[in-house]
Amino acid sequence: MPPTKTILLTGGAGFIGSNFVRLALRTRPDLRLINLDALTYSGNLENLAGVDTDARYSFHHGDINDAPLVQRLVNEADAVVHMAAESHVDRSIMDSRPFFQANVMGTQCLLDAVRRRKGGPVRFVYVSTDEVYGSLPLNRPELKFHEGLPLVANSPYAASKAAGDLLCRAYHETFHMDIVTTRCSNNFGPFQFPEKVIPLFVTNLLENKKVPLYGDGLNVRDWLHVEDHCEAVLAVLDRGRPGEVYNIGGDNERSNLELTRSILSAMGKGEEMIQPVADRPGHDRRYAIDASKIARELGWKPTRSSWPAALESTVRWYVDNDSWWRRVKSGAYREYYARQYASRAAV
Ligand SMILES: NC(=O)c1ccc[n+]([C@@H]2O[C@H](COP(=O)([O-])OP(=O)(O)OC[C@H]3O[C@@H](n4cnc5c(N)ncnc54)[C@H](O)[C@@H]3O)[C@@H](O)[C@H]2O)c1
Repeated sequence: MPPTKTILLTGGAGFIGSNFVRLALRTRPDLRLINLDALTYSGNLENLAGVDTDARYSFHHGDINDAPLVQRLVNEADAVVHMAAESHVDRSIMDSRPFFQANVMGTQCLLDAVRRRKGGPVRFVYVSTDEVYGSLPLNRPELKFHEGLPLVANSPYAASKAAGDLLCRAYHETFHMDIVTTRCSNNFGPFQFPEKVIPLFVTNLLENKKVPLYGDGLNVRDWLHVEDHCEAVLAVLDRGRPGEVYNIGGDNERSNLELTRSILSAMGKGEEMIQPVADRPGHDRRYAIDASKIARELGWKPTRSSWPAALESTVRWYVDNDSWWRRVKSGAYREYYARQYASRAAV
């Protein structure tokens, strides 16, 4: 079947974006993908090795704030999936300006291009995060994030993503544009930049280094395999209702300590490899997703996130892809890592 629809994907060289490209090219012969990515520190064309030669895929190196380039690519597209972002909370605490430049101004630039698109506006899927909802208490396990909650972002990263959510809402309300927003929980899987907890811990252990565990380790996250997230985004792209928000989650809550112990056990290491470090400022205590709306309306459910097998296969991927993470973890990353943890006294 020849492709019938062209998707402009932003951030397709990052963790989730590259998994989205792989999944879409493998499972959706009807789609052609244009990947626009600035190749910041977390963007890596190696993440796309093997699929980048597909005739249905093309890459454009550029910034989502480059209005003429964005307009040209939007004009060619039948829909936009917007994933490009500065994505790491710790970096946003050190310097939040790049987050607002990319996550707010970049989103605004894309929305304007879609509004002015030659031939009329097309569907815009904004990939947001559950972090816009703030934090849930540990002692109220019955509480979960649902789409009707107000946005109560607690980190500069979450604030920049929440601003993007509000821009999307405003463009839908004001210009009647076909915009759908997704809010997903923590992702895990291959090609994740090793500043995020799972690849950081696995690769540290492979280097025989300790793993820095924040605070008391009791913060809870709802873990979802990245391909489950990408399938949910495809479902929203196909069938999401204009102006709606869809939560995406794995119903898989784990404390950071439990996650750390599972990684240690999968790698045959003991708890002496845990290095407690001072907590992240403003560290959200618990995220938990009510994903019943996307299940009910779009028929999406996670199929790849079953724990601990999915975690173990992810650990195995980093063990097997030594040269990928060693290259990624060298250079500028080293300097960042030293700054990040040198400033935190071990507790
Ligand atoms: N990782 C998660 O657990 C998670 C969970 C929920 C939502 N999200 C959201 O999913 C999206 C992707 O996250 P990720 O983990 O893959 O991030 P990532 O940091 O791995 O990738 C981000 C990509 O965006 C590109 N990019 C950044 N600024 C850009 C700009 N100005 N112009 C063009 N490209 C730019 C980078 O080069 C990189 O390829 C983000 O919007 C993030 O907020 C992530």
